[in-house]
Amino acid sequence: MQYSKELQKELELLSNNLIADAQKLEFNHDSARDKIDDLKKVIHYHDWKYYVDASAVIKDYDYDLLFKQLKQLENKFPDLLIPDSPTQRVARTLTSDFPNVAHSVPMLSLENSYDENDLNDFDKRVKELTGNSEIVYCVEPKFDGSSIAIIYENDILVRAATRGDGVSGDEITTNAKRMRTVPLSTKFSAYGIQKVELRGEVVINKNTFSKINEKREEEGLQILQNPRNSAAGALRVKDSDEIVKRGLEAFIYHMAYAVDANDNSLLGKQLNAHFENIEILGKLGFKIPGTEKKLCKSVPEILAFISEWENKRDEYPYEIDGIVIKVNDIGLQQQCGSTSHHPRWAIAFKFKAREVETELLSVNYQVGRTGAITPVAKVVPVYIGGVTVSSISLHNEDYIAEKDIQISDTVVVQRAGDVIPYIDRVVLDKRKSGAVKFIFRNDCPVCHKEIYKPEGEAIYRCINVDCPAQAEERLIHFVSKDAMDIDGIGRETVIELIKKGLLKSIPQLYDLKYEKILLLPGWQEKSVAKLKNGITASKTQPLWRLLNGLGIRHVGTQTAKDLVKNISNIKDLFSFDEEKLTSIEGIGPTVALSVTKFFHNPANQEMLKTLENLEVNTKNVIQAAASNKLNNKTFLFTGSLNRFNNRDEAKEMVENNGGKLISSVSKNLNYLVVGENAGSKLDKAKTISSIEIIDEEAFLKMIED
Ligand code: IVH
Repeated sequence: MQYSKELQKELELLSNNLIADAQKLEFNHDSARDKIDDLKKVIHYHDWKYYVDASAVIKDYDYDLLFKQLKQLENKFPDLLIPDSPTQRVARTLTSDFPNVAHSVPMLSLENSYDENDLNDFDKRVKELTGNSEIVYCVEPKFDGSSIAIIYENDILVRAATRGDGVSGDEITTNAKRMRTVPLSTKFSAYGIQKVELRGEVVINKNTFSKINEKREEEGLQILQNPRNSAAGALRVKDSDEIVKRGLEAFIYHMAYAVDANDNSLLGKQLNAHFENIEILGKLGFKIPGTEKKLCKSVPEILAFISEWENKRDEYPYEIDGIVIKVNDIGLQQQCGSTSHHPRWAIAFKFKAREVETELLSVNYQVGRTGAITPVAKVVPVYIGGVTVSSISLHNEDYIAEKDIQISDTVVVQRAGDVIPYIDRVVLDKRKSGAVKFIFRNDCPVCHKEIYKPEGEAIYRCINVDCPAQAEERLIHFVSKDAMDIDGIGRETVIELIKKGLLKSIPQLYDLKYEKILLLPGWQEKSVAKLKNGITASKTQPLWRLLNGLGIRHVGTQTAKDLVKNISNIKDLFSFDEEKLTSIEGIGPTVALSVTKFFHNPANQEMLKTLENLEVNTKNVIQAAASNKLNNKTFLFTGSLNRFNNRDEAKEMVENNGGKLISSVSKNLNYLVVGENAGSKLDKAKTISSIEIIDEEAFLKMIED
């Protein structure tokens, strides 16, 4: 199948419509036939984009939605199911980039222990199995992440895989290579090792994890309950940039095998002690339990180590859920052997989950900067893991429903590490007869305007642009560099003016009482004049800056630019519907919904009219390019750029000189401008001979006067 540009556009449009209509499943035989035809066409197209063109244009979630819809219709009308349907092939799995691979040594679990008796039993068993009464154990933290197996051959990382079911897992080499602390090559040969398989745990620093969740909450995504899920999820994300963004790291804690050039095992021979082997790995550049591990000669020593870690667990930057105790001598490990489930030479001591019961008194609501409304439980204060907790985020309506949380319930609060405390479950046995089912409010707790929940999202939002709870952050964004870029005013000034009652909304910025500002402490004629000039100058900013400045969800710089190309005045958007918006290149259904909601809101329309009356530019004045030196050629920037303040500056230079930017490497690309540490885009560009690969200097030369 050949897909022309026009056909691609048409199918993408059809695809968006099918996704938007996915819930409507009332069909008769004829309309089902048409729908099935459309779905098949679109799914075939997406498969081609994904497998052949390597430039998927659909989110996995949406692809699944289309696939499910087709399946449902075929089930309902079996005579319409014909063998060419995509449902008749093995379904495309979302992880098809990660083929299943067998582990040459199974990835076993660990047996668990919970108290001194369990440890004494373990110690006794090891002594019986080895016939040795003086065992040295290596004790180390049990990292709570996602396990990984990494193979090196001739000093080069050749394969990485997830645990899977222990027998086989997903091959995730590309992603593993993006992890800090996993060397791509290292001198195993210096230790006579030709091939080695390492085992470790992929983890996320607790701080990074909290930040990810803050962002997810803001974006209306389901929050991740713990760093483990977040690490496991990221390992199997197709976009390996995610590995870097989430700061994934791997602690290596085990050598599954190590052989020399003649395929002889070195474990139990030259490499005969776990502790030393791990130290070697540390020297070779791996992240290892370094000072965290210790050799112990008795159960009391082990118990002391455990209690030391139970105490400092909160301060440790990574989540740990126990201590692993391992026989240190590998020869003795081999004598102990393994069951099909776990090695007999190691055991995990599990820390107790920290949890306490308390009573849920009421639910309050908080409004975030983009209007996200978060329900917060007020509970009878309880002390847990070093802090007293009296309010706990309930995240969103679904979370409350899923856990069936009702007011006056007895709830179990858990706190893992220093992760924010959360309600793990309700103690149903203790539910009072007067317990009240929780109903999410339908207005904003601050401005009392109606709130809404975008389809597919978990969080309700207040979309009233004048809502005081959001005004501050909105205004800060409005004046910022990426938006109206107003000189003389930044975060601090916005906050100050709001506090003094001189600024409440975006339009007021253009109607400031400068004589009152002059009376404020620290303000002088000069600074007031600077502020005034900056604000006046911003009135003539290009329209995309105003559009970006409004802080509409999902609308950033690029989307604002895409939208502006299709309007002559911002007021045009008052009458655009979702269908019209999705027909614009670069605008998908999520953005379309958000933009429609914003511009159909009378209060927002009023605000924009006021801005127009205040002489703020609301028109799209097509600016002629400053030069045409780049002659319609296409450009893409990759890697970290040193000659520009940011990527936008580079992009602006291209556009101002008559060039065009495109977002992926293909035959349509004329120039790839390469900064430092360029990755896959550069690799791909090298395979297309028509692309010129240039550095930043060469690019600047092209537009020099
Ligand atoms: S040793 C045969 N050491 O715990 C080697 N495992 O519940 C067995 N884990 O699947 C693993 N920290 O993912 C070992 N220091 C550590 C560990 C550790 C975390 C994980 C590992 C294993 C799971 C068992």
